[in-house]
Amino acid sequence: MFKAFYSLAATPFAKEVGADQAYPSAASQETAAALAYLKQTRGMGLIVGEPGAGKTYALRGFSQSLNPALYKVVYFPLSTGTVNDFYRGLAYGLGEEPKTRKIDLFRQIQQAVTTSFQDRKVTPVFILDEMQMAKDVFLSDLNLLFNFQMDSSNPFLLLLCGLPYLRDRLTLNHNRPLAQRLLLSHQVEPLTKDEVKGYVAHHLRLAGASHAIFTENALEALAASTKGYPRLVN
Ligand SMILES: Nc1ncnc2c1ncn2[C@@H]1O[C@H](COP(=O)(O)OP(=O)(O)O)[C@@H](O)[C@H]1O
Ligand SMILES: [Mg+2]
Repeated sequence: MFKAFYSLAATPFAKEVGADQAYPSAASQETAAALAYLKQTRGMGLIVGEPGAGKTYALRGFSQSLNPALYKVVYFPLSTGTVNDFYRGLAYGLGEEPKTRKIDLFRQIQQAVTTSFQDRKVTPVFILDEMQMAKDVFLSDLNLLFNFQMDSSNPFLLLLCGLPYLRDRLTLNHNRPLAQRLLLSHQVEPLTKDEVKGYVAHHLRLAGASHAIFTENALEALAASTKGYPRLVN
C-alpha cells in the first residue's frame, strides 16, 4: 500500500542490501581499509563496534571480495554453536575429518592450515563473530591454536569480531598473550548526521524512489534518535 503511495518498486530497508550496494560511509571505508591491511599482513585482527554498527555486514563484504581460488573463508558466529563445534568446523572447513581428542584436533587443524597455505596456496580465513560471548579459556585456546611461530609468515587470517567490551576484555592480564598478537584493532564507527541522510537516500534510491520521502526535520530526528547506527536507521 505505502509502496504504491510513494511510488516505490521495492520495500526499502526491508532486507540487507548486497555488498556491491553498500553505502560508502567514511566508517565503512575505514573498515574496508583495515581489512585490506590485514589481508596483506595476514595474522590476527580485531574488529569491534556497537550493535548494528555494520560489523557483520562489513565482514560479509570482505569475504565476498576474496578470490575463492586463493582464500578459503570459514565464518563462525559464537551465538550458534559450542566451542567444540567451532574446532570441528575448522577441521571440516579445511577438508579434514575432525579428530576426537582436543590435542589431536588442534594439531590436525594447524597442519591443515599450513598445508593449505604452503602447498595449495590457499590462505584460510577464519571469521569469529559475536566474540564477546567467548570464555577466557577459549581466548587462550585461540592463542595456542593460531601460534605458527615456526613459520616465517602467518599462513592464515583470523578476525575476531564483537562488541566494544571485547577489546576491553583483551586488555586484561590473562588475555594479554592473545592481545599482543593482534596486528589490527579497529572500531566500526556509526554514520555521521549527514551520512544518515545520505544512507536513507541511498536505500530509497535502491527501492526505486524517484523523489524525497522524508522531510529534513524527520531526517534530523532519525539521525539523533539512532545515533547513526545503520540497523537502527533501517
Ligand atoms: N555500509 C552499509 N551500507 C548499507 N547497509 C549497511 C551498511 N552498514 C550496515 N548496514 C546495514 O546495517 C545492518 C546492521 O549491520 P550489522 O553488520 O548486522 O551490524 P553488527 O554486526 O555491527 O551488529 C545490516 O544488516 C545492513 O542492512
Ligand atoms: Mg553482527
